[in-house]
Amino acid sequence: MCGLVGYIGERDVTPILLDGLKRLEYRGYDSAGIATLVNSHVEIVKRAGKVNDLENLVALNPKPATIGLGHTRWATHGEPSDKNAHPHIDHTGTITLAHNGIIENYAAIRQRLQRDGVEFTTDTDTESLLQLISAFYDITGNLEDAVRFALSEIDGTYGIIVMSSKEPEKLIAARMGSPLALGINDGEYIVASDASAIVGHTRQVIFLEDGNIATLTREGYEIKTIYDEKIEHKVTEITFDIEQIEKGGYDHFMLKEIHEQPQTVLDSMRGRILKNHGTAKLGGLRDVMNALNSAQRILITACGTSWHAGLVGEYMLEQYARIPVEVEYASEFRYRSPIIRHDDVVIAISQSGETADTLAALREAKLQGASVIGICNVVGSTIARETHAGVYTHAGPEIGVASTKAFTSQLAVLSLLTLMLGRNRGFISLEQGVEIAKEFEAIPGKIQQILDENISEIKTIADSITESTNVLYLGRGYNFPTALEGALKLKEISYIHAEGYPAAEMKHGPIALIDENMPVIFIAPQDKIHEKVISNIEEVRARKGRVIAIVNHDDEQIESLCEHVIKIPPTTDFLTPMLTIIPLQLLSYYVAVNRNCDVDQPRNLAKSVTVE
Ligand code: F6R
Repeated sequence: MCGLVGYIGERDVTPILLDGLKRLEYRGYDSAGIATLVNSHVEIVKRAGKVNDLENLVALNPKPATIGLGHTRWATHGEPSDKNAHPHIDHTGTITLAHNGIIENYAAIRQRLQRDGVEFTTDTDTESLLQLISAFYDITGNLEDAVRFALSEIDGTYGIIVMSSKEPEKLIAARMGSPLALGINDGEYIVASDASAIVGHTRQVIFLEDGNIATLTREGYEIKTIYDEKIEHKVTEITFDIEQIEKGGYDHFMLKEIHEQPQTVLDSMRGRILKNHGTAKLGGLRDVMNALNSAQRILITACGTSWHAGLVGEYMLEQYARIPVEVEYASEFRYRSPIIRHDDVVIAISQSGETADTLAALREAKLQGASVIGICNVVGSTIARETHAGVYTHAGPEIGVASTKAFTSQLAVLSLLTLMLGRNRGFISLEQGVEIAKEFEAIPGKIQQILDENISEIKTIADSITESTNVLYLGRGYNFPTALEGALKLKEISYIHAEGYPAAEMKHGPIALIDENMPVIFIAPQDKIHEKVISNIEEVRARKGRVIAIVNHDDEQIESLCEHVIKIPPTTDFLTPMLTIIPLQLLSYYVAVNRNCDVDQPRNLAKSVTVE
């Protein structure tokens, strides 16, 4: 959360910073600002609101410069306001800093410095770090040393970019628990909280590690530890294109990403299905194959949408690979003294690979001796680097704050893992495996079919629930997690209250909510509990609830019971969530559009939650 970008080179820095901030805006968007050095003087322009508002403000008084930094904020300490927007400037007017993360001991530092007469001008935790750097700068006269000394007193997380008007040829960046990538180009450097702000300029990046401090000048860069030891880093090539982080003709990133799913699911599976052997090969897991094959238990930990994918994973791994699985909210996992054994395998699922809770959970699991696997989308992300082994989902950059294509690609990887372990552990026969592998290959085409056939009906349903205040999502078995995910999508972007439940659980409480105003969305493909779901539909009808259902093409029985149906092709039971979630994503999208909501940047949310 929060976007950070900094530049040093020969070009005019302002458009580079603004463009970077627009690409990072999905990470946080309640205020934004830039700081540049103009004739060795710090110029800051910042304000509450979106990057577009900042751009308009900057345009009123453009000032050319070739070094600067920028920030787009998701507020933690201090309300979103002009005053609290980053970058901040120290009390001497010399040092400017933008920060992503949380300074946990900010209050003690603030009190100490205030006692020394330093005046604070914002409500942020960040200002404590800045004024502390300033205090050390007073003593050392060297920005790099001052940053190093200040950071050694900090508890908490940070990605920071700092510059000083007294050292106008230098930009300093440092990280601890908050990602930073350094883009390297001819005579210029771009440092940013993710590669999307860099790829338009260069493909050569270094992903900084926790505890790194990078000093950038036009002549070169140096990366050191906080203890002043020099370190070398591998330069990595960014593999995605700039087109992948643009809207490509769609009104919103979310709609584009929903429509990308035939391709992204294909990409998640590409080269990983061994059709003739009826199994899958996940090369990234090579080093943990023994642990996986002999695991007595798998623990899956994740947050939000990734947690929902984990729940589907639990159902499939238990049914087909016969391994006991537990799925834990990462935020709970770490703090509830979990019992983790050496023969457990822990799977951390994360689109961004930077979610603080998931990272903390995996560190806890590692500490207790488990083998830890990552299922991540962002290549080179912290979770991907800190796990013992892992599988990338290859969904490409996901910019829409509401996760869509990342979810289906996580399901694809979990399905492949299930097939592989089911075969390895002898619970899936060769014939069965070959059938499943064939069905995998059909999934992208079936997703495309759903997108081709259903948009108009989904728009009609969206119109019919746009004014609703509550919506219930019900499903069973593999589609109980889908119900949770469908409800999450609706509430995130349309602000309509929505709940997901196992369909049969409804009668234990939620049924009290049902009346003629309550839309109830059933996810009801023809699986082994189909008849039971029909009974649940009847229970809702008996209370005059409005039934909408996702059904298979030839399911006339349910059709006759519903106000609306969305028809999808059939598939093997454990693959159905990859299909049933598609109409639910579209439905929440069209409802949000009807309600004039900001689909890609819903209120209060941010992509990649890097604070606990
Ligand atoms: C929902 C959503 C969030 C994320 C959650 C975990 O649409 O995007 O619930 O799924 O914050 O994020 P990752 O997967 O990046 O760890």
